[in-house]
Amino acid sequence: MDHFLYRNGVLHAEDVSLAEIAAEIGTPAYVYSSATLTRHFRLFDEALGDMPHLVCYAMKAASNQAILKTLAGLGAGMDVVSGGEYARARAAGVAPDRIVFAGVGKTRAEIRAALEGGVRQFNVESEPELQAISEVAVALGTTAPVTLRVNPDVDAKTHAKIATGKSENKFGVPIARAREVYAEAARLPGIAVVGIDVHIGSQLTELAPFEGAFRKVAELTETLRADGHDITRLDLGGGLGIPYRNSNAAPPLPFDYGALIRRTVGHLGCEIEIEPGRLIAGNAGILLARVIYVKEGEGRRFLILDAAMNDLIRPAMYDAWHDIVPVTEPAPGHERSVYDIVGPVCESGDTFARAREMPEVAAGDLVAFRSAGAYGAVMASEYNTRPLVPEVLVKGDHHAVIRARPSFDDIISRDTIPHWL
Ligand code: LLP
Repeated sequence: MDHFLYRNGVLHAEDVSLAEIAAEIGTPAYVYSSATLTRHFRLFDEALGDMPHLVCYAMKAASNQAILKTLAGLGAGMDVVSGGEYARARAAGVAPDRIVFAGVGKTRAEIRAALEGGVRQFNVESEPELQAISEVAVALGTTAPVTLRVNPDVDAKTHAKIATGKSENKFGVPIARAREVYAEAARLPGIAVVGIDVHIGSQLTELAPFEGAFRKVAELTETLRADGHDITRLDLGGGLGIPYRNSNAAPPLPFDYGALIRRTVGHLGCEIEIEPGRLIAGNAGILLARVIYVKEGEGRRFLILDAAMNDLIRPAMYDAWHDIVPVTEPAPGHERSVYDIVGPVCESGDTFARAREMPEVAAGDLVAFRSAGAYGAVMASEYNTRPLVPEVLVKGDHHAVIRARPSFDDIISRDTIPHWL
């Protein structure tokens, strides 16, 4: 459920008309709903209920500080994957003991910054990384709290580019080698083991792969405890999918996911962390665009929008489906048409949808890409020197630009010309 509904014939974000936002700041633009962000965070928080837990929002999904502040204000922690995300979370006022630091390639500079600024834990992905963290911690006269990310060799049954839990993926330590690596961690002077981490992939539409992974983690917890390790925290990652297509069967709900966590690892008495990104932000954001031209091609009709692959890369990158709807509510019995929906960028990959049936629209009309809140703005680029797409946050009848559209001068003036030119 989200808060993008038609009212008086116009699509609204909560109580604000998207037509008004477009008139004020132009298109393309991302628009987020605070109420949807809030609702989705709470669903997770409540799903873990009485278990000691922290929901660490995977801020890679949508990392504007206004979004981070909205979620942190509800009690969210953050899952960060780079020094930049760490700095951004801190700038948004997130307390260091609510930040978990993930990623296969943490540099020593990133590790140092997080240890100096404070961090809840590092989710460690390899032995060389463990070694590096220990050395940096010792140099700073401290110890680093860590979980080890184990790779459970579970098929997440999702798109290959976002599956992470199979042994061929670059992520984590093979679960079969976990005891060995934990033993090494225990010997390292700068390391304090606090738990286990697992994340098997993103946009999972079934619970079964989670169940397989969590059962393996439960078993490993008992084994490691028997080996003398103090396992008090289980970070179970993110990955719960969202419905991108109206017609799709609904993916599992956070409530059922919470029940699964309770059933598989609840008896261990560990503090539970989860790292949802997409389910919190995905349906809390839309990409607003305008039709520039309707072009009649050979046997097909192109809808050429002012949004492009640089603003929303998911269709080009993962063949992802986003519902695309007119901002003006189609009248009962309206005409429908079949379009190839494309952007203005100079390559055929700049296609959002092929042979998509939707209500007929005309040049100048506004459309909205639904479910674009996660992995939308954060993956945008300035390809074709198109200004980085702006963002707007709505709350009730308030709205605010939370990232302004840069001017051409802003973009161009970032280049510096060497003295010999
Ligand atoms: N934790 C870890 C360690 C992750 O790698 C990810 C996502 C998450 C949590 C959050 O997963 P979520 O709840 O959002 O599924 N750009 C792709 C998705 C990449 C996901 C990367 N890792 C897309 O647009 O589909």
